[in-house]
Amino acid sequence: MVRKYNDFHKSVMVEEILSYLITKKDGVYVDCTAGEGGHIKAILEFTNSKAKIIGVDVDYEVLEIAEQRLKDLSDNVVLIKSSYKDIDIVLRGLDIDKVDGFLMDLGVSTFQLKGENRGFTFTKDEPLDMRMDTEAKKDAAYIVNNYSQEELRRIIFEYGEEKRFAYSISKSIIKSRPINTTQDLVSAIRKGLPSSITHDRHRHFATKTFQALRIEVNEELKNIEETLVKFENFLNTGARVAVISFHSLEDRIIKNFFKNNERYNFLTPKPILPSQEEIKYNSRSRSAKLRVAEYIGV
Ligand SMILES: C[S@@+](CC[C@H](N)C(=O)[O-])C[C@H]1O[C@@H](n2cnc3c(N)ncnc32)[C@H](O)[C@@H]1O
Repeated sequence: MVRKYNDFHKSVMVEEILSYLITKKDGVYVDCTAGEGGHIKAILEFTNSKAKIIGVDVDYEVLEIAEQRLKDLSDNVVLIKSSYKDIDIVLRGLDIDKVDGFLMDLGVSTFQLKGENRGFTFTKDEPLDMRMDTEAKKDAAYIVNNYSQEELRRIIFEYGEEKRFAYSISKSIIKSRPINTTQDLVSAIRKGLPSSITHDRHRHFATKTFQALRIEVNEELKNIEETLVKFENFLNTGARVAVISFHSLEDRIIKNFFKNNERYNFLTPKPILPSQEEIKYNSRSRSAKLRVAEYIGV
């Protein structure tokens, strides 16, 4: 596959992940959202040659990039194309009973935003896809052309946190059908908004609706808790679970899961946030929140 851009995805809160996640230099660690392998590379450099890292991602195109990037670093990495919600199947398939840490870095990777024909961004005109797993059945075009107005309104309101205009955008989407490309959707969203919003220079007016559809297409919120529950069967006592989220609903799911779980010592009831220097260098990190919990067993 030919790369059409030069920068790798800038991994978020790398130092913080290393200091919270890695409790043993020769441990077994699972990166459930391997992406372009940025966190895995940092973990490899921080651990020793006995460490083992399993990287999972649902997007085989990003995994190809990770594979290229990591190939000279270590034989101790295994990359698997799977959803993290099937992490139990992945680990059993590899004969792994126990691990020392799970990492999840939720959200979208730079490759998905900048890669060709993925349909994640309103800055291009492409088929309206947004599937991280390109083998999945439902894409964003299916959703905007088939969901009811009420379903679209709810998704845009909840997942896009578009509190004021979810109704008018959903109405405009219904009127604008068929919607086949990212720019068809941008134009439908534009028609559902007042000009004071479409002329706002600070934030593109389509950002929230695109985020909402991405979350719905990839069932991002639905899969998190299901996956956290599965981790418990594989954790050594003292092992850590670290999750970086970018959305308040994701963070709420993670916080509530660990807060109400006596098998964990919740190390970050207040989330860890990126430093000002990191936000300056990587503006995508500005909404990141890191939560970490230590497994103390039954
Ligand atoms: C923010 S990126 C990860 C970046 C990575 N930590 C790095 O440093 O390069 C998030 C990744 O999660 C993946 N992802 C999203 N949903 C997933 C799922 N259900 N199972 C596995 N991976 C998923 C996406 O394909 C994307 O590559």
